[in-house]
Amino acid sequence: MKLILMGAPGAGKGTHARYLSEKYQIPQISTGDIFRANLREGTPLGLKAKSYMDQGLLVPDELTTDLVLDRLQQEDCENGYILDGFPRNLNQAEALTQALSDRGEEIDFAIHLEISEEVIIRRMEGRRVCEKCGASYNLVSLPPLTPGICDFCGGAVVQRKDDEAETVRKRLEVYREQTEPIVRYYREQGKEARIDSGQSIEAVREELKQLLGEKDGHQN
Ligand code: AP5
Ligand code: MG
Repeated sequence: MKLILMGAPGAGKGTHARYLSEKYQIPQISTGDIFRANLREGTPLGLKAKSYMDQGLLVPDELTTDLVLDRLQQEDCENGYILDGFPRNLNQAEALTQALSDRGEEIDFAIHLEISEEVIIRRMEGRRVCEKCGASYNLVSLPPLTPGICDFCGGAVVQRKDDEAETVRKRLEVYREQTEPIVRYYREQGKEARIDSGQSIEAVREELKQLLGEKDGHQN
């Protein structure tokens, strides 16, 4: 199962990618998490990405596309994967389509998590993330079991630097201008599956299960 999760910053891509990854035992590939992990390790990629991320801008394609396409060649992607935060503009989407079609493959669904900006801003204020494994929490809707400690790996749960109000506004603007066109791109290919991400986490999961259950049903 090859999935893309599309949606604005804060739409719930990370939250639901993590759930789907555990449920279907396929890797979650989050470009944001990859950049943040590189930054923690102080790699040249992490340091280059930081200057863009801190401003709410996209990291240039030349630092992003090959990184993801190489990752998709690894053994753990044989049974599929969930792309979270990639592609993020038309160039990236076209490069992905081309790389897959060279191997006679295509994605199954580009799942579009739809949500209003008002709800996004509220959720981003409460968002906290594990600085070690990237798991996403929310002080209101999904707090860690022990305050400040990750349920999965015991890492510290902190606020993301780019979740300050001003940077969130910039990220939303960049989303509207550069990322939204990929929604139409996948719609025109008949790949878009729309889900109302303004609902509770459980309700969104139910819809995801229905969508992907149907897919499995067709295959069997
Ligand atoms: P990235 O890390 O991908 O950030 P983003 O797209 O802005 O999305 P977020 O991670 O902020 O939100 P999300 O949709 O994952 O929501 P979440 O599940 O956390 O990218 C960061 C930066 O890296 C970019 O700005 C860019 O610079 C760079 N970058 C990354 N990929 C790139 C690429 N391909 N090309 C170029 N640059 C790239 O949920 C949000 C909050 O809401 C959480 O607190 C969660 O608990 C809560 N929540 C979620 N769902 C619900 C619900 N149903 N009910 C209540 N609360 C909920
Ligand atoms: Mg995320």
